Amino acid sequence: MTDKMNQKIPEAYFDIDKATKENGFTMSSDQLTCSLLKLLAASKPSGKFLELGTGTGLSTAWILDGMDNNSTLISVDNDGTLLEIAKKHLGNDDRLQLILSDGEDWVYNNLDQRFDYIFADTWHGKYLLLDEVLDMLKEGGFYIVDDMMPQPNWPEGHQEKAVNFVQHLERRSDLKLTKLNWATGIIIAVKK
Ligand SMILES: C[S@@+](CC[C@H](N)C(=O)[O-])C[C@H]1O[C@@H](n2cnc3c(N)ncnc32)[C@H](O)[C@@H]1O
Repeated sequence: MTDKMNQKIPEAYFDIDKATKENGFTMSSDQLTCSLLKLLAASKPSGKFLELGTGTGLSTAWILDGMDNNSTLISVDNDGTLLEIAKKHLGNDDRLQLILSDGEDWVYNNLDQRFDYIFADTWHGKYLLLDEVLDMLKEGGFYIVDDMMPQPNWPEGHQEKAVNFVQHLERRSDLKLTKLNWATGIIIAVKK
């Protein structure tokens, strides 16, 4: 067996990938991670999904591809140019709500919302406001992060933040988690 993906890639993926490269955005999740996001999404029929950090919508396209028709996805980013790319290619999907907002504002304004699946791919919900976002996770819900193995673009001091983040997750008695040294380094946690 190899990591090679032999299953269908979401239709919008190629156009978004092209637009992402033209834009020069380099922080999109890789294909392996995206395939896992899709797989986990497929396990939550009629689910409420949250993505913090839309980027250009590459990971969003895969999450949508795993979701069923009764599920909904809120995806938040503070960069209007990136969100426009996501909107152009995914905006006709009624299940998706793209929100232009600072992560902090969005989290504080939505503390009462509950989700079956949270992909935290920006500061908020990962290195900032972690407990607030974990409180938004339903019992049995997935909390997913990538980029946990040292990345070339990590600024000085980020390694320590990453170590503290993992320890914080591991110390929470309400989470079961697994760490995958695969793709860019993934953590999947489930709320007990
Ligand atoms: C790792 S990228 C997301 C990539 C995307 N999930 C994908 O795989 O294609 C992180 C995103 O966080 C966004 N971001 C950075 N600071 C933010 C903030 N304060 N509030 C909301 N989004 C923020 C950036 O614009 C960027 O798109």
